[in-house]
Amino acid sequence: MIELRPLSEGDVAGHMAGEDAAVIKWLTGSAATWDSTYRHFKTLAANAAHGVGKRGFGVWLDDELAGYVDFDPDDPDLPEPGDVNIAYAVHPWARRRSMATDAVLLVCAQLRQDGIGKRAIIRTHPLNRASIGVARACGFRPVSAPFSGQDHVSETDDASADYVVFALDLEALGIGGD
Ligand SMILES: CC(C)(COP(=O)(O)OP(=O)(O)OC[C@H]1O[C@@H](n2cnc3c(N)ncnc32)[C@H](O)[C@@H]1OP(=O)(O)O)[C@@H](O)C(=O)NCCC(=O)NCCS
Repeated sequence: MIELRPLSEGDVAGHMAGEDAAVIKWLTGSAATWDSTYRHFKTLAANAAHGVGKRGFGVWLDDELAGYVDFDPDDPDLPEPGDVNIAYAVHPWARRRSMATDAVLLVCAQLRQDGIGKRAIIRTHPLNRASIGVARACGFRPVSAPFSGQDHVSETDDASADYVVFALDLEALGIGGD
């Protein structure tokens, strides 16, 4: 059973313990420091207080911090108005237990309940099989092919060549995600 909770200063070390090469390669781009992590948590808390921008949560599994998920309706690089980006990471020891899938579905249910956005978006590198697996397990559908070019099928002309874009229609979800 997982639970999403806001992250605070006391979670910095636990959050950093979940960073491995895959997190840096596919999500963050560089190794975190205590200060950068703390600043990130402060930004998330301020955004949550104002109801804007990226809002993030720790994912707790049996009371142990085991992952991270955030959503951002104000990301400027999303395909359409009403899109909400979702990003995630699971600590290495907790992978392949549906944690990311469950966390993304919880966020989608929350977005639907709070009336935030029309589509949830997952952007992932075409070689990130784990992330693509999460998107598919959550019922997201691809809305762009990975590479731009004459023969690719895309509903989103401006989709970055570096990413595959998956979308889930939030308005088709029942309140509470059922
Ligand atoms: C991507 C990530 C969050 C997945 O977390 P997870 O909790 O292990 O994912 P789930 O258990 O919910 O996996 C859902 C499905 O995705 C697929 N999948 C997950 N990990 C996979 C892997 N390493 N290789 C291939 N498929 C994988 C599987 O189909 C899986 O279902 P299954 O286990 O029943 O076969 C985790 O691997 C991670 O933290 N990676 C580094 C950060 C990252 O890539 N974030 C996404 C950036 S867009």
